[in-house]
Amino acid sequence: MKMFSNGVSRRRVLARGVSVVGAAAGVLGSGRALAQGPAAAEKDKLKVGLMLPYSGTYAKLGEAIENGMRMAVAEKGGRLAGRDVEWIKLDDESEPKKADANARRLAVQDKVDVIVGTVHSGVQMAMQKVVAETGTLTLIPNAGVHAVTRGACLPNVFRTSFTMAQPTVALGQAMIERKARRAVWVTWDYSAGADSLEGFREGYVKAGGTIVKELKVPFPSTDFSAVLAEIAQLKPDAVACFFAGAGAAKFMQDYAKAGLQYSIPLYGSGFLTEGVLDGAGVAAEGIVTTLHYSNLLPTVRNGEFRYNYRRAFKHEPDVYAMQGYDTGLLLRHGLEAVQGDMSQRNRLYGALESASIDSPRGKWRMGRAHNPVQDIYLRTASAGENRLIGVAARALEDAGTGCKLA
Ligand code: PHB
Repeated sequence: MKMFSNGVSRRRVLARGVSVVGAAAGVLGSGRALAQGPAAAEKDKLKVGLMLPYSGTYAKLGEAIENGMRMAVAEKGGRLAGRDVEWIKLDDESEPKKADANARRLAVQDKVDVIVGTVHSGVQMAMQKVVAETGTLTLIPNAGVHAVTRGACLPNVFRTSFTMAQPTVALGQAMIERKARRAVWVTWDYSAGADSLEGFREGYVKAGGTIVKELKVPFPSTDFSAVLAEIAQLKPDAVACFFAGAGAAKFMQDYAKAGLQYSIPLYGSGFLTEGVLDGAGVAAEGIVTTLHYSNLLPTVRNGEFRYNYRRAFKHEPDVYAMQGYDTGLLLRHGLEAVQGDMSQRNRLYGALESASIDSPRGKWRMGRAHNPVQDIYLRTASAGENRLIGVAARALEDAGTGCKLA
């Protein structure tokens, strides 16, 4: 991987890396940063509730988000605006039925200052009801379901990741340019899949494509045999999909085993190939995706992030780690604006709303409905990397339809 082929001096990166990793070690272990003055030291700890999946098909996503988030805090000596951080972890199991009780535990029982969560869109919808009642500041580090920043949007909920339609709306044009005019769509049967399809329909049909069939698999089933048989029979020009995590690796493998890899090209929103390329092996080769990140973005900022993450956690970061990191950056920004005093709600929300984040993904800003306004990249999976092959959309903002904040 040519991480520093962009003019970054290795020495400079090393120097910065050491300080960050030193701080990261402090947060992850027992060390503690130097106090920033008596007033800051006396403030209460900031309670951060991590409501994430630590088991099931999205377990690795939750872990990566936590790592990234901790890294952003570690860069400031393990403190946010002078306050020590207490982490309270909760495994939401990507289980919507348990989400109400889980979110209440963090917001009401543990009285966290902020909830960072979650990954699964169905769980996010249930959390939204709870934080509408409690007013808890909520930072969404992944789940892309539209409703939480459209009709059901809230002043206390901000997303640092993407909306489901952002990658897929940008996919259609790329497929048409590759002569994929008749496509089958396939996904898991839950809100993230449905909202991904909404974006895909918009972009693909507008670009001149026809969706010949929309297929669904129950979440989190990884028995893809029925849909693969149907795809083989339909013989479309291409297949487009939303899958993620462990299930995505299995889908790519089963797709290749069914003999479809070289006859019917597979496309997807980039979650398909994030963090799972080792697991998917040659089955991922050549898959074209759209996403708001690529490991190989040739910027100093991305190089530093990847170097520091690898040093701290001993493996490569993916889009989820980056989203966790950006969640930490956004929280840092908000807290610094109110000197750690979260009771100043208007000032806090104002700072989050006007945030502009210098991220490993490129600079993004917070949109009117509390979603990132960001570039979407075109990538192709090759030899274990999501290689960057272009920019599919610039400064894309979710419509935020029905959100009264905008
Ligand atoms: C979601 O449920 O919103 C979701 C899950 C995994 C992803 C992306 C979106 O990779």
